[in-house]
Amino acid sequence: MNETVTIDRYGVMGYPVSHSRSPVIHRLFAIQTGQEMQYELLQVAPEKLDIAIRQFQRTGGKGLNITVPHKSEVARLVDQMSERARTAGAVNTIAFRGGELYGDNTDGIGLLRDLNVNLGVNLEDAGILILGAGGATRGIIGPLLEMQPALLRIANRTIEKAQYLVDHFEKIGPVAACRFDEVPVAEPYDLIINATSAGLHGDTPPYPEAAITENTFCYDLSYGLNTTPFSAWAREHGAKKSIMGWGMLVEQAAESFHLWRGIRPDTAPVLKQMHINA
Ligand code: ATR
Repeated sequence: MNETVTIDRYGVMGYPVSHSRSPVIHRLFAIQTGQEMQYELLQVAPEKLDIAIRQFQRTGGKGLNITVPHKSEVARLVDQMSERARTAGAVNTIAFRGGELYGDNTDGIGLLRDLNVNLGVNLEDAGILILGAGGATRGIIGPLLEMQPALLRIANRTIEKAQYLVDHFEKIGPVAACRFDEVPVAEPYDLIINATSAGLHGDTPPYPEAAITENTFCYDLSYGLNTTPFSAWAREHGAKKSIMGWGMLVEQAAESFHLWRGIRPDTAPVLKQMHINA
């Protein structure tokens, strides 16, 4: 008798992708929820992205995570998209549904869950400062504005990019743009989020020191086994708390897992098991 057992395939596509923790996280989710599935690391160069996604689909793929640098490109490739992916202009999760590609973006909700649920940060009426105005920023502005902050200011080295995002999002909530050295001194911030990629290159740009008080919560979307440059900067300047984005990583993964499998894993033990609950 020739019986073929097929396990549902998932994976993360990026370039490079070898550093990704997603396989570990999804394996822990699968064990916890008793789901039979496999999750692979898929290194795919930008020019091969379309072909690689279709091939993964043809060979039993059920879903994909998409990471740097492919998130915006995949937003152009999918057949259908969630509202939050459209707002973000980026897709970090694909579900293959009856031959069609459905794109979602779970980054924003992942950040909100980490802030609200894991860390107990209240965003209603809060003053929020985001440093950086690239793809990562665009992915989180919509969900942050839905929490009804008093103001969300975007500070960026290149003012035009911050202004572009303000023009795009000002119909959703109160947003403003400026350069790092133009952040108003008298404007107190409850939350500062680093969404620049400067730390990846070991850089610490001239972030606005005056924006931090002893009540400011600092959150770096980047994470590492060692303290990131922004986290170190925040600590040195007296922030109330300085957190790296491990929680967001695990929470966005949980939301993707839920989309694919219909089950929401418990994230707390996974954060603990990874020994990264900073
Ligand atoms: P991502 O998708 O990670 O957001 P991106 O779209 O390339 O990547 O955006 C990177 C962000 O980090 C931008 O806001 C960039 O500032 P500019 O718009 O001025 O380029 C910011 N960034 C990267 N390196 C930086 C540095 N050394 N100093 C200041 N900002 C930096």
